Amino acid sequence: MNQDQLKQAVARAAVDYIKPKLESNSIVGVGTGSTANFFIDYLAEIKGLFDGAVASSEASAERLRQKGVVVYDLNAVDHICVYVDGADETNPQLHLIKGGGAALTREKIVAAVADEFVCIADGSKWVETLGAFPLPVEVIPMSRSHVARELVKLGGDPVYRKGVITDNGNEILDVHNLHIADALSVELAINQIVGVVTNGLFAHRPADLLLLGTESGVKTLRAHVESGI
Ligand code: 5RP
Repeated sequence: MNQDQLKQAVARAAVDYIKPKLESNSIVGVGTGSTANFFIDYLAEIKGLFDGAVASSEASAERLRQKGVVVYDLNAVDHICVYVDGADETNPQLHLIKGGGAALTREKIVAAVADEFVCIADGSKWVETLGAFPLPVEVIPMSRSHVARELVKLGGDPVYRKGVITDNGNEILDVHNLHIADALSVELAINQIVGVVTNGLFAHRPADLLLLGTESGVKTLRAHVESGI
């Protein structure tokens, strides 16, 4: 199977996983990216089973609306039963790097609200140690150079993602060459830098469940499983 077929397989598995949990008043949290797009397509097939969705980006909101799914502002709902989203990297603790699509802040917010976070990823995203994928950091534009200097002090090599403005009107620094052995500490340290909105480490709010697409099928993994797939 190619990478897109693996993404489709985990997106389909996510719909199968959440379907029995849905009720007529359920709100589903929906992520951003190519894997999340496949999820949106399959989710729309069962739109009669739930009330609507909260999206982690304008792009996902638009795709949901085009498929006939009602999209709510997060402030208009008090409960999200499940959040489904992709990732750029996941380790065996289901700590994630996210934000390749620049939606990390809204993704982190929706994940924080949701009762359950289901991550869907093809096998290429599985790593023992996070950091080969450059860590996205969303910054207030006027703070970009300051934040970059502070990130260098933490051992990273930040690169400005030119031409990208987030849905929140901010900019992205992609931090290369971080070997993230302690994701909890690194997430906190970067968020302490003045001017950082948030960073793409999801360690304090990891995924609860990972649906990982491999050549031998979709594996269902929970946090703290032994490494190795
Ligand atoms: C967007 C994200 C995505 O979940 C991540 O980049 C994975 O994308 P894809 O499913 O296209 O591989 O965090 O900000």
